[in-house]
Amino acid sequence: MTGILTQTHTKHNQTLEGVWLFLRRWLAHPLRMGSVVPSSQALCSRLVKHGWPETGTVVLELGAGTGVVSRAFLDAGLAPERLIVVEVDSDMVRHLRETLPGVTVIEGDARTLSDLLPARFRGRIGSVVCGIPLVLLPLSEQKRFIGAMESVAPGRGFLHFSYCVTSPLSGRKLGLDPKREAWTPLNIPPASVWRYLPAG
Ligand SMILES: C[S@@+](CC[C@H](N)C(=O)[O-])C[C@H]1O[C@@H](n2cnc3c(N)ncnc32)[C@H](O)[C@@H]1O
Repeated sequence: MTGILTQTHTKHNQTLEGVWLFLRRWLAHPLRMGSVVPSSQALCSRLVKHGWPETGTVVLELGAGTGVVSRAFLDAGLAPERLIVVEVDSDMVRHLRETLPGVTVIEGDARTLSDLLPARFRGRIGSVVCGIPLVLLPLSEQKRFIGAMESVAPGRGFLHFSYCVTSPLSGRKLGLDPKREAWTPLNIPPASVWRYLPAG
């Protein structure tokens, strides 16, 4: 059964096995997952467009889930050695390691990023994509994630996506400058891509 599912692709580059895994992990940890299904192709392509790294730098993706955003970067031509993904869920990590050969898959809590990131990537992160549902967390926890991203990619800010109509993060309370880069009605539910830079 699993073999059949693995080979049955949706129109997205996600497999049905991936969708099923996502749903199972959502049932186990709804707040940590924040969504019932993986991001759509439409959302992933917008994240790739706005998160494409400068030459010689790498992409850091937090909360990779089943890897749909990661896969979209690879399909757009990013070399796997230029992609680092961090995921806290062991089942997801196993899936990511099986399906994203060559990508650096780190198992752990993104709040401890500075300890998790291998030394060879220090100073090389050009773009950060945060898929962790920060909007569901209290301000103090949001600050921890944002501080962790800033510690490994100073001044770079990060891309984030959300189903909220307005910014999911308070720029004023978090010292960030929010900018909506894109919106897609083709995601379920419709989603926006936000860029947050440290407020000048
Ligand atoms: C909304 S899902 C996004 C998955 C994928 N990026 C996508 O767009 O389909 C959020 C992911 O963040 C992961 N996550 C939540 N808290 C985390 C943490 N503290 N550190 C690393 N990953 C975390 C969850 O396990 C889940 O896979």
